[in-house]
Amino acid sequence: MVRSERRRKGASADDFAHELIAGLRARPRRVSPKWFYDEQGSRLFEEICELPEYYPTRTELALLERHAPEMAGLIGANAEIIEFGAGASRKIRMLLAALPSPARYLPVDISGAHLVQAAQALQDDHPGLRVEPVVADFTVALSLPAPVGTRVGFFPGGSIGNFDPAAASRLLRRMAGWLSGGSLLIGVDLIKDPELLHAAYNDARGVTAAFNLNLLARANRELGADFDLAQFAHSAFYNPPLARIEMHLMSRCVQTVSFCGECFDFAEGDSVHTESSYKYTVPGFRQLARAAGWSPRALWVDAARQFSLHWLQPARME
Ligand code: AVI
Repeated sequence: MVRSERRRKGASADDFAHELIAGLRARPRRVSPKWFYDEQGSRLFEEICELPEYYPTRTELALLERHAPEMAGLIGANAEIIEFGAGASRKIRMLLAALPSPARYLPVDISGAHLVQAAQALQDDHPGLRVEPVVADFTVALSLPAPVGTRVGFFPGGSIGNFDPAAASRLLRRMAGWLSGGSLLIGVDLIKDPELLHAAYNDARGVTAAFNLNLLARANRELGADFDLAQFAHSAFYNPPLARIEMHLMSRCVQTVSFCGECFDFAEGDSVHTESSYKYTVPGFRQLARAAGWSPRALWVDAARQFSLHWLQPARME
């Protein structure tokens, strides 16, 4: 068994109901992408990561595989690795293979059952490693056990892009606090040909569409909502001035949906903004990191300049 599973401020059905109601009342309508990740959503996201159109995962994995020894050298011995949004914990395996003697691995994720399963699988493969999953919504709060080694943050996948730049900057600042002087290895998706971006979020098999629509399916399952999934369409497009992919759920007709004693009217074409995925240039991200109190150091980018991994040190360490 993994050593312990800390449940602090995970996300409850109440939190989901409150945020969904507020988001559907707001104009424009919006819901945080964090609600994608129930068990079904986490599974669908893993499927997305395997899609030929979805380049970020395989590109980042290749970067990790190729440069793990150099990264491990920066991380050093006796490191306590905190992975934010750990999901399937696939990427940490590449680092662990290269690390001399990590003190502990703390995977943090909002999706409890999924996290514990992945942590258990990792523990089975690394019996000598302390693996302690932390179920938490780190966008709200994070409480970690006392450190047992030098903290190093790991935030792969380009998930920083799911926060608008102001929120990304706030999160980077808070991470500096959680890491208590430790460094951060962070994956950042890069601005590229809009056609490649469009394809990555509009895959031929419709897995991304199912992932987006699962938000409504989750509301039906957990809140007793009556969303008719056939009456909402997945819409994803690149917004060049904001350098972001936007995902929406678009009403296909005039309809009313109800849950938790509330009714929500939709006209045909009304949309709910479910996710933004910001893309950066390398200098643009480094500037954001600097403004958030980090000093960008090592950088790894693939030959096609699709994805980047940044090693950030707290600025005061210079
Ligand atoms: C988790 N995150 C970085 C993914 C992204 O690309 O923004 C989520 C995703 N949404 C649709 N496909 C993947």
